[in-house]
Amino acid sequence: MKVLVVGSGGREHTLVWKLSQSPRVNKIYCAPGNAGISSLAECVPIKVSDLESLRDFALAQKVDLTVVGPEAPLVAGLIDIFEEAGLKVFGPNKAAAQLEGSKSFAKELMAKYGIPTGHFKTFTEPEAAKAYIRQLNTPCVVKVDGLAAGKGVVVAMKPEEALQAVDDLTANNQEAAATLLVEEFLQGEEVTVMAFADGNAVRPMVWAQDHKRVYDGDEGPNTGGMGAYSPTGLETPELERQIYREILVPTVKAMAQEGRPFRGILYAGLILTREGPKVLEYNARFGDPECQVILPRLKSDLVDIIEAVLDGKLANLDISWSEEAAACVVMASGGYPGKYEVGYPISGLENLPQAVVVFHAGTTHDHGQIVTGGGRVLGITGLGATLEKAVASAYSGVDRIRFTNRHCRMDIAWRAFRRQQIK
Ligand code: GLY
Repeated sequence: MKVLVVGSGGREHTLVWKLSQSPRVNKIYCAPGNAGISSLAECVPIKVSDLESLRDFALAQKVDLTVVGPEAPLVAGLIDIFEEAGLKVFGPNKAAAQLEGSKSFAKELMAKYGIPTGHFKTFTEPEAAKAYIRQLNTPCVVKVDGLAAGKGVVVAMKPEEALQAVDDLTANNQEAAATLLVEEFLQGEEVTVMAFADGNAVRPMVWAQDHKRVYDGDEGPNTGGMGAYSPTGLETPELERQIYREILVPTVKAMAQEGRPFRGILYAGLILTREGPKVLEYNARFGDPECQVILPRLKSDLVDIIEAVLDGKLANLDISWSEEAAACVVMASGGYPGKYEVGYPISGLENLPQAVVVFHAGTTHDHGQIVTGGGRVLGITGLGATLEKAVASAYSGVDRIRFTNRHCRMDIAWRAFRRQQIK
């Protein structure tokens, strides 16, 4: 098969890496890709927003399957355009991707179908949102309705912070902020439970937790993700059953009932509250950097799973997972998520220990050298029999890799380790 992967970050490198292990795949293209991806795939300089050029490329190269990494092209309708051209493509179509593309759509769906989530109200007038915040006078979450590349959510512990968030979010996110949401602040551990969905059946993956803040101890501004690990230590058979029965299955059923069958990766960001798991947000694709710890644990062939999704045969498929733990440490450019510099040569990428896999996020080639090219530069995934060993492997890789102004968190998986100590 010839496969095209759309995207250029750590998640897409992981997808390319996993697909390259399938005996059914003999050629991979990635648009636009990055320096690391280019060792496994032919990178083609087409932007993820250029849907027509992506389709034309897939037609010209007779691509057998296209896999989409990021949310923006899904929400913009890449799947619809590819399907209209008779191309096989993996991901939810435009109508189904609204689950991520519109937070108010997602919340209203959950309210309508009784899927557990926090209370919420939507506002088209910032002043009305502010009046509600004053009246609420409790911690709350302020969100923009549309896609905002991780910059559309503020968790406010005090009303003043929420009022400021209304101004900031409105100023920084034009169209996406035409509708604002004010949501109940949910207390509890946050976990990522992703699932394959074929429009009808749903098959959960192993769980992960990510680290969104830039500094140790979950301090500092939010980022695209500074690390992740799997398993989380929070999994129990009861919780897994409850999440499947009360959240994943009802979501897929609700989407089918609404005439928007969801085929692809259903990402449920959950808070494990005292009253049970509640949905914080949905995404319509693999999490990043969760993908970097989930796919290394997937033993089955990803192509077989994708085909089962496309053929509506997911219910009968065997999907097997490794018992090994995985941890990913993101190495970023100093200054990220604020201002940072790029173009610094990266050394130490060769001869890493076997239990270490490097996924490139923001790298490019410069005069034959691999150099930094983004805020998040590399994701170093370590594998091991236990989470401790996986984290140690990841940091053994980090220790060898150098570039000017590198920054990474030194406490990946601290929540899981603290829970173990308390037990
Ligand atoms: N790690 C969170 C996300 O991918 O949205």
